[in-house]
Amino acid sequence: MYTCVKTMKIEMNLLPHEKLKQKPQDVLKIPFGTVFTDHMFSMHYSGNSWHEARIHPYAPLELSPAALCLHYGQGIFEGMKAYRRDGRVLLFRPEKNIERFNISAARMVMPAVEIDFVLDALKELLRVERNWVPDAPGSSLYIRPTMIGIQAKLGVKPSEEYLFFIILSPVGPYFKEGFSPVNIYVSTEHVRAVRGGVGAAKTIGNYAASLFAGTEASKVGYSQVLWLDALELKYIEEVGTMNLFVRFDDELATPPLTGSILAGITRDSVLTITKDMGMNVKERSISIDEVIEGLDSGKVIEMFGCGTAAIIAPVGSLWYKGKPYAVSNGKTGELTQHLFDELTGIQSGEREDRYGWIVDID
Ligand code: PLP
Ligand code: COI
Repeated sequence: MYTCVKTMKIEMNLLPHEKLKQKPQDVLKIPFGTVFTDHMFSMHYSGNSWHEARIHPYAPLELSPAALCLHYGQGIFEGMKAYRRDGRVLLFRPEKNIERFNISAARMVMPAVEIDFVLDALKELLRVERNWVPDAPGSSLYIRPTMIGIQAKLGVKPSEEYLFFIILSPVGPYFKEGFSPVNIYVSTEHVRAVRGGVGAAKTIGNYAASLFAGTEASKVGYSQVLWLDALELKYIEEVGTMNLFVRFDDELATPPLTGSILAGITRDSVLTITKDMGMNVKERSISIDEVIEGLDSGKVIEMFGCGTAAIIAPVGSLWYKGKPYAVSNGKTGELTQHLFDELTGIQSGEREDRYGWIVDID
């Protein structure tokens, strides 16, 4: 399902200046993803093509209570960020997110979007909302492209109509801890995704499936869940909103993309940067036993999660089978700190963009 829309015009319906919202005074203090900008982008799909591309005021959606997405979960999304640097607005590898959006769409039997068109539409929306891109260190404008099946029908079938939209939210750190070690609960009872399922798609149900174990983690004061593979509960997979890296002595390892975890763009960027640093980097199966033994013996030097919202998040402690295990003595490891500085430096335009990852919206 693919329809060329490159020539589609974007209709603009912008608010007059006096109707614009007050921007938050200190973006670093607002809880992640709770404030939205004045405008959004949307387009509709029906009759096998995309149409009605519009930039218009941010507003509630009008949806039939029988809309398929509400009943059977046909919904996908992406997460990306825009950064401000000396008046310029920068995106980080945005085409990768739109490519992944189409991979998620194919898995959920939803129509593809045209990558160039969506990127142009996003740039146009960002030009309208330029003043919303914060410039405080550690802040950015979070971008949430989303697609939902909206046909009103109770039969379990792919929708024939879709709504695609992009909303924007000024954000600071994803975790309330900021860039400080996070505590991670290893779920040994519940699983997120199984090989052959939809774990590699960024689809809404994966996040609903993660909530229950999250409540268990919070009972022991932990904030995030580390999932194990669904077949043997033996190998580490990923954290709720992040891919995971483990540094064993001179090796940096991360689980391979076997279909049940998300192919993170930050993960790919970390792999590129660390290989370039000459590190011994492996995408390989890592058993939870190897991690726990490595923490006991000192072979595991550091662990960190990575993702768009979370950036690079040091792991300070693992909770496994009723016991806490400190990681890097609860402190941020040296490589973790280096990667945080390097990645945020490239993303914000402060460090050289050696890999051609940055896209300027103008
Ligand atoms: N894994 C999951 C389940 C996620 O939600 C995310 C966030 O998008 C990631 C991994 C990291 O992916 P990325 O680096 O592309 O943001
Ligand atoms: C992201 O990193 O963009 C995510 O999607 C994580 C999350 C807020 C669901």
